[in-house]
Amino acid sequence: MLVCICKGISDRKLHEEIRKGHRTLAQIRTGCQAGTDCGACVQQIRQILGARAGVSHHETAAE
Ligand code: FES
Repeated sequence: MLVCICKGISDRKLHEEIRKGHRTLAQIRTGCQAGTDCGACVQQIRQILGARAGVSHHETAAE
């Protein structure tokens, strides 16, 4: 699925960037240019970053 239409960046590519250690919007922008044009995708990028951060830190036991 394309997240950033302006730069043609898919969610898959974003996850790849995160795996490379790009964990903030600024790092993602530098790494693959996503979110550097119209900005419409920024919120979605943030959501992906947030979701990954939640998983990669400690996996909390179900409450
Ligand atoms: S859709 Fe990502 S900058 Fe425009």
